[in-house]
Amino acid sequence: MQTGHELFVHGLNDMMDAERQLVEALGELAGDSSREDLKTAFEQHRRETEEQVRRLEQCFKLLGETPEDTECHGIRGLVAEKKAFSEEDPSEDLVDVFNVGAAIKAESYEICEYESLVDMAREMKHTKVAQLLNRNLKEEKATLKKMEGFSDKVKPNEMMNEEQRQQAASSSKSSGSRRAA
Ligand SMILES: [Fe+2]
Repeated sequence: MQTGHELFVHGLNDMMDAERQLVEALGELAGDSSREDLKTAFEQHRRETEEQVRRLEQCFKLLGETPEDTECHGIRGLVAEKKAFSEEDPSEDLVDVFNVGAAIKAESYEICEYESLVDMAREMKHTKVAQLLNRNLKEEKATLKKMEGFSDKVKPNEMMNEEQRQQAASSSKSSGSRRAA
């Protein structure tokens, strides 16, 4: 690899694999979340992601390039984290909390990738390609915002176990009495 163009095409291939992995992953997140509003949000972004794959395919066509099999290791890592978490037998509420966090990580990753790809496309005067990538970028940003909204309201049912609650209560009592003295 020698040129910016090759680096750009490499990035497009990377995102193509990322989006394809995410179509599947979002289906799983929709399936194992328990809140209905969360399921709906994942399902909606899954459909958007299918469209994002089609936009990337269009980018390759416009550039006269053929997509290559590349693995997006970043998203692969996030998918592996989700799998490892599921093996810990988490309660329903924790699955929802984890899924929101996982989506925030994935969207943040995609936003970084698309921002640099849009910049490169503009520098190389691939105007139409830049527009298509920018549409994907906008959807990722909207999804990130939505997921950040969920992270404000989706919380674990229990933050601490009984012993920790008692410890916290007694330490706040003693610091209260110190303040009083
Ligand atoms: Fe995406």
